[in-house]
Amino acid sequence: MEKLLIKGGNSLKGKISCSGAKNAALPMIASTILCDEKVTLRNLPYLQDITTMFELLGSMGAEILLDENMDFTISSANLKDIEARYELVKTMRASILVLGPLIAKYGKAKIALPGGCAIGTRPVNFHLDALKKMGAKIKLKNGYIEATAKKLHGAEIRFDGITVTGTENLMMAASLAEGTSKLTNVAKEPEIIDLADMLNSMGAKIKGAGSDEIIIEGVNNLKGTVYDIPADRIEAGTYLVAAAVTKGDITVDGINPERLMTVINKLENTGAKLSYDKKSISISMKKSIPEPVDITTAPFPEFPTDMQAQFSVINAISNGTSNIYETVFENRFMHILELNRMGCDIEVKGNHAKINGVENIYGAEVMATDLRASASLILAGLCAKGETVVDRIYHIDRGYERIEEKLNYLGADIVRLPS
Ligand code: EPU
Repeated sequence: MEKLLIKGGNSLKGKISCSGAKNAALPMIASTILCDEKVTLRNLPYLQDITTMFELLGSMGAEILLDENMDFTISSANLKDIEARYELVKTMRASILVLGPLIAKYGKAKIALPGGCAIGTRPVNFHLDALKKMGAKIKLKNGYIEATAKKLHGAEIRFDGITVTGTENLMMAASLAEGTSKLTNVAKEPEIIDLADMLNSMGAKIKGAGSDEIIIEGVNNLKGTVYDIPADRIEAGTYLVAAAVTKGDITVDGINPERLMTVINKLENTGAKLSYDKKSISISMKKSIPEPVDITTAPFPEFPTDMQAQFSVINAISNGTSNIYETVFENRFMHILELNRMGCDIEVKGNHAKINGVENIYGAEVMATDLRASASLILAGLCAKGETVVDRIYHIDRGYERIEEKLNYLGADIVRLPS
């Protein structure tokens, strides 16, 4: 297994560009199932999760072409094998995003039930309950979701809990249903707005994405489109934190700051200076020791759970005590044990981490357990004294494009060690 060797202590300086957003791209690729024509996606990030989504569509019979501009054209018309097998679903839970499109377009779907994962149990009951309200018949058999529907019909659906991929699945399904659907208690993440924009560019009739209520008027078919994947707000946030923990001074290009306001505000509270325009964010950390910041994760527009692990590192080297409450996933503190092995002083009880800032942390051999946990270990390695080796970095390759290349460009010293 490949590892990253990080020599800590370099201050990051310079400018990098943000890659396309993984969590916007995954539902967009799934949405091509709804359409009989070709869809071209530009600015797709080169990530393992994207490859897995392509493998999944390819296994069902989709044609995927890459042209000389690195744009992907996907033709998902006439899929033959309407099944998402366990081998693929177990490596990526977002595979569940093909459920809504398959049942809406083909009237059937067989999808392996995603199990638990490193960050929690992550059930899909909200997706299934909502699809049932639109007329889908759903059975769970031999570890698979088997869904059928003659024709989905519009429905009023209030989600029992806020779910990002659940909201996306239902927006896609309702786009080809008969009649109008009203979705409430929905996720309001920017990626929901992106998907609605893309579906509307294909001829869907979706209003209200990004608000508490989404209205979708079903249409008979969707046409092809060419769509640019927007920048990854979590990637941008992660690099801003990398600058904050290394007393750095960087600009992340291509990102709309409105998607990251809670993160920007918290970074300002650590003592960093931030400035931004419509398409870039700059950070300069002049303070020798960051101030601690309390954080409670919650659905957008609150503080994103996908930035919680990274902020654990700023707090760990801050000049005081802070509290982090993780309210979205029940088990997203796996990075803490590894951070403590590097000299951090963090105590976890349930969904609460109490972090006592320490003056120095030290390099160690550590193990990545999930995507954002891996990011936090790299950030810790950047500000630790000595060398850190992060093992199991396949987790990081799922969600960060060329991470060591981008960080080295900013002045870090990271080497990928072969397996
Ligand atoms: N939940 C249920 N039942 C459901 C669906 C969700 O109980 O049917 C619970 C989950 O267990 C969790 C909470 O609701 O406790 C929120 O889960 P959600 O469904 O919103 O998460 P998701 O859609 O599976 C997406 C992102 C995650 C991100 C979360 C929260 C994608 C592909 N994934 O997951 O991204 O953490 O929303 O914002 O969009 C990551 O990129 O590292 C990542 C994990």
